Amino acid sequence: MISILFIKEQADLLWHRLRARMMASPDLSASPDEEQPCLSQNPHRNRKYHAFLRQEKKTVKDLIRLGQRLMRRYGLHPHFFGNNRLPDTARFLAFYGLNGPHNATDSHDLTTCLSNEEVLQVLPLFERRIAERIPVEYLTQEAEYLGKTFYVNPHVLVPRSLMHTRFQEFLTHVTWQNKRVLDLCTGSGCIGISLALLNPEIQVDLADLSEEALKVAAVNIKKHALEGRVNCIQGDLFENIRERYDLIITNPPYVASAHYRCAPLEFKNEPRLALEAGADGLDLIKRILSEAKMHLNPTGKVIAEVGFPAAKRLKRKYPHLLLKWYTHRTPQGKTAFLAMDCIFECQAKDLPPREKSGIFTRWLRRLSAN
Ligand SMILES: C[S@@+](CC[C@H](N)C(=O)[O-])C[C@H]1O[C@@H](n2cnc3c(N)ncnc32)[C@H](O)[C@@H]1O
Repeated sequence: MISILFIKEQADLLWHRLRARMMASPDLSASPDEEQPCLSQNPHRNRKYHAFLRQEKKTVKDLIRLGQRLMRRYGLHPHFFGNNRLPDTARFLAFYGLNGPHNATDSHDLTTCLSNEEVLQVLPLFERRIAERIPVEYLTQEAEYLGKTFYVNPHVLVPRSLMHTRFQEFLTHVTWQNKRVLDLCTGSGCIGISLALLNPEIQVDLADLSEEALKVAAVNIKKHALEGRVNCIQGDLFENIRERYDLIITNPPYVASAHYRCAPLEFKNEPRLALEAGADGLDLIKRILSEAKMHLNPTGKVIAEVGFPAAKRLKRKYPHLLLKWYTHRTPQGKTAFLAMDCIFECQAKDLPPREKSGIFTRWLRRLSAN
């Protein structure tokens, strides 16, 4: 009898120890065949995550490799911005989840061993990028533009305008009268703020229809200590613009509705207001060309990014307009097909006369912004 009691006691003890271990690391509780706690709705990824958690030794590098492999397998869209390579995406998310510096690369950071708790801080980020196709910048709430960091959230386009490669050139060739610049359709404010940082003598206004976007721009003005020299103006294009400027610079929405409809999910996670611009993608740019003259000094100019497909349509629509086109080249001198003639410049004197829009059209625009 005593020996039976002893065996039972030992069995209980063993069970308690085992249970305690399982509770401490939930990943150990499941054998490969049992149902796993849900880290992903996708069974394949769920299994991969749990297999990774069961590994005795796992380093930051291993975690990044896991993220990279899964992202490759699920065919993420590169989404055109700076850190669009999968190793970078996985690295950014890993270091962000681990509260480390995002750009850490030295081997000490990469060979650090991780606990399951630490791994579990990162896996949901991988999962959101893969399953919901959320751009990495929205997950880290940070984007890099021209070497500076900007706060971003899903109310603004992820900064990626190609214009930054020519900012110095643009600023050098302005005939300055009152040293004022307008960044129209500003989103996060990345263009106007970068220009203000490059030239400390200019005053910059950031304008956008979206109040939420302007809240983001305001955070960035503060982040770069530009209060007083950079201001926000809310309104439908020039609606609330009272000044005249030496330079109006703009990266407006220019995606044709049909293209927007079949765009990868990453783009659908960005504000539609920031991308779609009617049947031909020219809704905004036509209005900008027709109204800009009223807001420019006589020697001023407008510089706009329109992207390659919209540029073709624009040339067809305004065959006589004097537009100087810029093609974007990589530092190696290569030109991506979509970067040909993607930016144009037009002098105030060459802009077309203003076309009036009716009250109903203005009301519709306001409605679409909310
Ligand atoms: C392509 S995003 C550009 C954002 C930023 N300039 C950049 O390059 O990352 C276009 C921006 O235009 C704004 N927008 C759309 N329609 C507008 C309108 N009618 N008036 C003013 N801004 C508008 C959107 O809210 C969005 O922030």
